[in-house]
Amino acid sequence: MENKELWEALEQKCKDCTACELYKTKTNTVFGKGSKSATVLFVGEAPGEQEDLQGIPFCGASGQLLDKYFASIDMKPEEYYVGNILKCRPPYNRDPSPEEQEACIGHLREQLKLINPKIIVCLGRIAAMKIIKPDFRITREHGQWFKKGRFYITAVYHPSMLLRDPAKREETMRDFLEIEKKLIELRESDS
Ligand code: URA
Repeated sequence: MENKELWEALEQKCKDCTACELYKTKTNTVFGKGSKSATVLFVGEAPGEQEDLQGIPFCGASGQLLDKYFASIDMKPEEYYVGNILKCRPPYNRDPSPEEQEACIGHLREQLKLINPKIIVCLGRIAAMKIIKPDFRITREHGQWFKKGRFYITAVYHPSMLLRDPAKREETMRDFLEIEKKLIELRESDS
């Protein structure tokens, strides 16, 4: 199959998925947004209310804040893709259960395979625990780099945490500057 067809098939598979109960309460499947040849893949935990209504990840208040961090390191739209561990909204924005995460993670793995980014950035504790390691401590380990296979992986505070606790924004800016540095480093090693 052509790349475009693979993407369409994967999106349809997510829309039709019944592997956990969340399909029963979702309004829309929230598949992902951004460049399909991105260098950086950002991964959040699950759609919130606005995302569920619009079918687009990070389109609410958290997303607006996230966009400011993207702009602050001058990241171009063609350089990033944004997705979630879960494609359907957990009711009342509760944390996704381990079973729901396990049922859905295969879709993200397929997105990862198609995009083949160089960097993965986990947005918040839930994504970091699933992608980096189960005992990941966001307060202590945000901004650190982990190498898994060919991917450089890091985690930053979830933007909704930054909305609740603006005191964490400065350290998050430093984490984004490290992401920018890594991007520059990788660009240079490519050229
Ligand atoms: N929070 C997330 O983790 N993902 C979204 O898409 C929106 C809010």
